[in-house]
Amino acid sequence: MKDDRIELASQRDLDQVYEPAEDSHLLAETAREYVGTDDLVLEVGTGSAYVATALATTGAEVVATDVNPMACREAYEAGLSTVRANLVEPFRDHCFDVVAFNPPYLPTDPDHEFDDWMERALSGGEDGRAVIDPFLATVRRVLVDDGVVLLLVSSLTDIDAVRASAAAGGLTTREVAEESHPFERLVVLELRPDDP
Ligand SMILES: C[S@@+](CC[C@H](N)C(=O)[O-])C[C@H]1O[C@@H](n2cnc3c(N)ncnc32)[C@H](O)[C@@H]1O
Repeated sequence: MKDDRIELASQRDLDQVYEPAEDSHLLAETAREYVGTDDLVLEVGTGSAYVATALATTGAEVVATDVNPMACREAYEAGLSTVRANLVEPFRDHCFDVVAFNPPYLPTDPDHEFDDWMERALSGGEDGRAVIDPFLATVRRVLVDDGVVLLLVSSLTDIDAVRASAAAGGLTTREVAEESHPFERLVVLELRPDDP
């Protein structure tokens, strides 16, 4: 009986944490190329810790964050330094060499939103940029001057609007990887400080 309860509880947790998909894979493979063994790396919104774990195989020190406590537990149990955080809020200025983020980006009709952790993992609000825009407005602060951000975005999210937000946040963007799927094009943007 006790074991059944534990199994049910962990199944509920799994249902509330984003499972790695094509977007996770594209970001992990691309970001790995940017990470050096001496780097301090931040993965924002780690979910199952798939991307952070891939980046840690380089030998770099990786910090994983999420707003979802169940995702934080998965990252912690995977052996990563883990912080429950909203975006980059708790971190000091100019400390990370690389920041990676696969954000919630699906444009969502507010009338159809469900207020649960999986919704927080997927929904980018009405224009898909409800989480991306505040991230771009604040991430420059935690980057070292020659640091880099790798951001996964989708054609569903208006990539030109994302580039404009990045420019407003002091970051120059470049498309460095892409993959086409039936309903969307996934892109990884490299963002670097425009005033290093
Ligand atoms: C699309 S999932 C990506 C999960 C994982 N990184 C991957 O690629 O498989 C987005 C993740 O961002 C997290 N998230 C959403 N809003 C956040 C915020 N404001 N700060 C930190 N994490 C956030 C969600 O909880 C979710 O785990």
